[in-house]
Amino acid sequence: MAIREIVTVPHPVLRRRATKVQDFGPELQKLIDDMIETMRAAPGVGLAAPQVNVSQRVIVVEYGDEEEGIPHRLYAVVNPEIVAVSKETEIGTEGCLSIPGIIGDVERAYAIEVRGFDRHGKPFRMRPYGWLARIFQHEIDHLNGVLFTDRAIRVERVTPELAAEMDRV
Ligand code: NI
Repeated sequence: MAIREIVTVPHPVLRRRATKVQDFGPELQKLIDDMIETMRAAPGVGLAAPQVNVSQRVIVVEYGDEEEGIPHRLYAVVNPEIVAVSKETEIGTEGCLSIPGIIGDVERAYAIEVRGFDRHGKPFRMRPYGWLARIFQHEIDHLNGVLFTDRAIRVERVTPELAAEMDRV
């Protein structure tokens, strides 16, 4: 495993629509291992492949919140798709590893259904809610070249120290 460089705005890869993964071979396995290590080192709770300059539809998420009943888990999802969203939305304050020093309030669906494949090509399906659903929406946006600042109803410049205290994705 290796830590890869996280690209930041205005790197063009962050605005590109990432391509679907067709091959679940060793190169994908290495990419996912490296993304996990890079996310943990940042530290962050989610990372999308374009953030390490690979324009492919792969995300990793590691998050849990016992109080909310969300067990701490690591997810690696290939070709993820949001197939359903709740009518209920929630506004939350997000930061992004690719946009240092900026946080913003973003309205997102409270609950979603995600489908895709695990790292070995087996079908993956889950219905995250709350902050976990927010992380998935933020990461899947990255695969479509969308950044949270595009959706934010308010953005704020913050010190790197404050930004580092947040769950970054
Ligand atoms: Ni991000």
